[in-house]
Amino acid sequence: MAILKISRMGHPILRQAAMPVADPSSPEIGRLIADMRETLRDSGGVGLAAPQVHVGSRVILVQIPAERADDGRALGETVLINPVLVPLDDEVVVDWEGCLSIPGLRGLVPRYRRVGWSALDETGRAVAGEAEGFHARVLQHEVDHLDGVLYVDRMPDLSALVFQDQLRSFMAAGPE
Ligand code: NI
Repeated sequence: MAILKISRMGHPILRQAAMPVADPSSPEIGRLIADMRETLRDSGGVGLAAPQVHVGSRVILVQIPAERADDGRALGETVLINPVLVPLDDEVVVDWEGCLSIPGLRGLVPRYRRVGWSALDETGRAVAGEAEGFHARVLQHEVDHLDGVLYVDRMPDLSALVFQDQLRSFMAAGPE
């Protein structure tokens, strides 16, 4: 296993559509997943997509600590291969996001509150479920990475793109 270098905004791989994985149980994908796990643990983030470690394959990894989950239940490290998301209704919520590929910044991003997801797991088995709130937000953020989309592209108002260490002053200035 290895901690991989994280691509940062400006690197072309973050703007390319990633390719579907033909064989989720291949040694190559197994190695990628092991390295992504180690890289995500090292980063302290809640999600990582393969293009963020310079690999153009449709693989994401998410893990959500209990304190950030809407239902207070932690989501352990979950690998989704060739993930597909479908909004479950029209409800959209706006909240802060950051990205390991855009270090130091935070932005207000609208996302669907509830999504259905389907994917393959590491053994190639079809898996599916529903997610809401922060979990749904993280899934939408990571699947966007597979399509070359960054959270800043989803922001309707770039005046809400701020350095993390300025977040407090931004909030103190009152509602937009
Ligand atoms: Ni990201």
